[in-house]
Amino acid sequence: MDKSLIKVTDSLSGLSEMLPAGRRVIAVIDRNVGRLYHDVIPTSERIFIDAAESFKNLATVARITDRLLEMEADRNILLLGIGGGITTDITGFTASVYKRGVQYANIPTTLLAMVDASIGGKTGVNHLGYKNVIGAFNLPLFTWCPTDFLRTLPEREFRCGAAELVKTLIIGDSQAYGKAVEWLEKGTDGGGKELCRLIEKAMSIKDGIVARDFRDTGERMKLNLGHTFGHAIEKCAAQTGTDINHGEAVAAGILIAARLSEKLGYAPAGLAGRIKSDFERMHLRVENPFGMDELCRALRNDKKRDGDYLNFVFIRDIGSVEVGKIRIEDIRL
Ligand code: GLY
Repeated sequence: MDKSLIKVTDSLSGLSEMLPAGRRVIAVIDRNVGRLYHDVIPTSERIFIDAAESFKNLATVARITDRLLEMEADRNILLLGIGGGITTDITGFTASVYKRGVQYANIPTTLLAMVDASIGGKTGVNHLGYKNVIGAFNLPLFTWCPTDFLRTLPEREFRCGAAELVKTLIIGDSQAYGKAVEWLEKGTDGGGKELCRLIEKAMSIKDGIVARDFRDTGERMKLNLGHTFGHAIEKCAAQTGTDINHGEAVAAGILIAARLSEKLGYAPAGLAGRIKSDFERMHLRVENPFGMDELCRALRNDKKRDGDYLNFVFIRDIGSVEVGKIRIEDIRL
């Protein structure tokens, strides 16, 4: 597996050092980001996309391809995805298939994309209502995260990304988790170096797991902590028109995972209570208006299902998780 560079910075300058000298760079940009950060984009060759889940499809890949052909882009270009996870996923996938593959790099502009989608090389688009069902594993040349972008991120979206950041720290680093609790409790004004360090830590935990299990057949499943019930909550929310974002559902999913971990003897008593009170201190929104029966019904179609069993991420303690199996019928809290 090739190595992908990661750089987190609190300034918008310095990107030119990441760009390979003399290389033609074509940016694929979330239209909204393009409007806000027109002057920062490091190339005049720009393709704008509408970065909504409903546009994350093959039609958008075809439209980008049309533009690349019009621009006479050859196989030596570097495609640069600038935006949230939808933009970087589409850019990475287009790069995987355009002329059988060109290099790409990411500039994520949301906290969620910085700590998750923009690293690890999972690229793809939705099809026929299935999320990311057409895709490829393909690492970016680099991911450059200027936290300055986060200043214009709405507070609720920032907290959504914070839930995913905290998830990764629960998986891999109890000390950094403690720092995140303190920092997020104080308020996030300005971000600065402390935020950079937390993002860097989360990215390096994910990067390490991905290096050991790029194709997601074992250890990488740890990154699904909180996502089994998180996705079930998102599914029920979509069916009932309830406004719950990914981070809010994942935060609720982590709490359910913590309670199940305690109940089944993976975690010491009191862990779920500690995580719950930490989430309150961090002002993370934990949203789950649905009952266990409803969630378990949604789980029956989960892609992590393996016959009667689900692959499930249990928490041993802060900084340590374990992938195990659980029968949907046995889920009782
Ligand atoms: N988002 C989980 C992964 O990259 O494996």
